[in-house]
Amino acid sequence: MSLGIVTGTANPVLAGEIASRLGSRLVEMQLERFPDGEIRPRLGPVRGADIYVIQPTGPPVNDNLVELLLLLDACRRAGADRVTAVVPYFGYARQDRRAGDRQPIGARVAAEAIAAAGASRLVVIDPHTSSLEAMFAVPVEMLTAVPVLAAAVRRLIPRGAVVVAPDLGAMRLARHFAALVEARLAAVSKYRLDAVTVSAKDIVGDVRNRPVVIVDDMISTGATIEAAVSALRAHGATGEPIVVATHGLFAGSALARLRECAIGRMLVTDTIGPRHPAPAAAPALPIQAESVAHLLAEAIDRLHRSEPLEELLLRG
Ligand code: R5P
Repeated sequence: MSLGIVTGTANPVLAGEIASRLGSRLVEMQLERFPDGEIRPRLGPVRGADIYVIQPTGPPVNDNLVELLLLLDACRRAGADRVTAVVPYFGYARQDRRAGDRQPIGARVAAEAIAAAGASRLVVIDPHTSSLEAMFAVPVEMLTAVPVLAAAVRRLIPRGAVVVAPDLGAMRLARHFAALVEARLAAVSKYRLDAVTVSAKDIVGDVRNRPVVIVDDMISTGATIEAAVSALRAHGATGEPIVVATHGLFAGSALARLRECAIGRMLVTDTIGPRHPAPAAAPALPIQAESVAHLLAEAIDRLHRSEPLEELLLRG
């Protein structure tokens, strides 16, 4: 069975890098846009192939999600032998439970739609919740970018630094990161007031007179990082914090907000495509974007050959 890479319009640069690392073809894809806003992708031949559809569902989340669904359906109807949805950033993962009465579980709705559209497997990187796996009837491979991020920033971490999870949900990634850079671990006790406001005052662990590295799965509005930086300073952390996150969405005025936080260095990956404010738009923020193309290429290669993913997977 031959290998084929299909890219949506969310992050074609990342998909192109993955295809070139695999020495594989990018299946031709044309996207027709109708005056009323509908889209219709049209693919080159995929019959009998092992197809990987690369489409993160970052901003604009709903457009990218619908495009992913249409691409999966097109692959299945065109006779692809196996179709894997590669969704490096999985939008709606934060809606993993009903936070109040009469609300949906967005992650479950997205999961069911992706499987129903034709995905026989899902590949994600550092999803907000590992319960995502249980929402899919098809296999889910959860990769992690933590080793990529730790390797990129290790040299910059001052001696005695403490790795901090900015909320309890980030503990899994922060613990893995701390183990890789051989640092102690702490956590911020945070709760969210609304979509753009969080409150964080208490710290679990000791950061007094220590530099800190904050590790999270994603940055959206920047509220979590802003609150964590302020709480860490109030508890005696020293210097300019290093901030590390897998997915840099930088929604709305996030970059302006983060600029006020006196962050020493910010590191994200390239899971999110170019249709959002790029790091270049914030020259005062020292943002670096580390590529996950080699991680995804390696995972796709192993899946295609039916080999184990082992150290590429999220652990703990
Ligand atoms: C939340 O639980 C996540 O791990 C992130 O901390 C959060 O989603 C980031 O969003 P924002 O930047 O809007 O605070």
